[in-house]
Amino acid sequence: MSDQDASPDPDAPILIFDSGVGGLSVLDAVRALMPDAPLIYAADTAGLPYGSKSEAEIAARVAGLLGRMSERFRPRLACIACNTASTIALGMVREVLHIPIVGTVPAIKPAAALTKTGTIGLIGTEATIRQAYVDNLEAEFAQGKTLLRLAAPDLVAAAEAKLRGDPVDLGAIRKAAEDLTMMASGNTIDVLVLACTHFPLLSGELREVFGSEVELVDGAAGIARRIAQLTQGQSFARSIPDRAVFTSADARLDALRPALGARGIEDILVL
Ligand code: DGL
Repeated sequence: MSDQDASPDPDAPILIFDSGVGGLSVLDAVRALMPDAPLIYAADTAGLPYGSKSEAEIAARVAGLLGRMSERFRPRLACIACNTASTIALGMVREVLHIPIVGTVPAIKPAAALTKTGTIGLIGTEATIRQAYVDNLEAEFAQGKTLLRLAAPDLVAAAEAKLRGDPVDLGAIRKAAEDLTMMASGNTIDVLVLACTHFPLLSGELREVFGSEVELVDGAAGIARRIAQLTQGQSFARSIPDRAVFTSADARLDALRPALGARGIEDILVL
């Protein structure tokens, strides 16, 4: 099927992929915009976290898994709801899969349009913040602005814990805020790019720590609009309830059921 093919099976799902629970922030935006679209949430829990892995390992995992999942679940479109995976493997995945692929890349463009001080903070994984993809977005959209990048892997763990019902460690968020403020011009940051899909799941906590003078920006709503645009005119029918698929059967999977259930996902499969 090509981007132009407008007639997939009505119950063909939209597949939303991340390393863990982060992609649920994108799923929420897609659900809000397209309530009738059947969804399948896929997480490479066996590979989490991606942020500390090498480019080669991430690219191999993402391309391999999306290939297997596409064969098994026949999605009409796949969304890589992960900045780390997208900034590294988007091109490669587009070459191997014959369905539309929507990626998630740091929302530097909207942040540059919003900043008044000219200083933008960006938090993501270690792998994301070192990508040439991010250098290119900065050169294209944030010319004349200051972009301060910080790796905040502890916030990935905090979001994973939160969705399993555990208390969130505000200390990790405070540390990220301090580290950004300590950078040159860091005290003038007025826009913060959440360049990891896990982080919008902590938006309340991030607001509490960063304060109302710092605007939080992420790409979820834009991704949902892009998916709606690419599937415009297609019909949707949900013949089976939406499902989640994980790559490991760890003991903490059951703790995710309430968060998934609140999003209309009752069935969990392990690939
Ligand atoms: N949610 C992922 C992202 O947007 C990364 C989390 C991880 O696996 O390190 O980058």
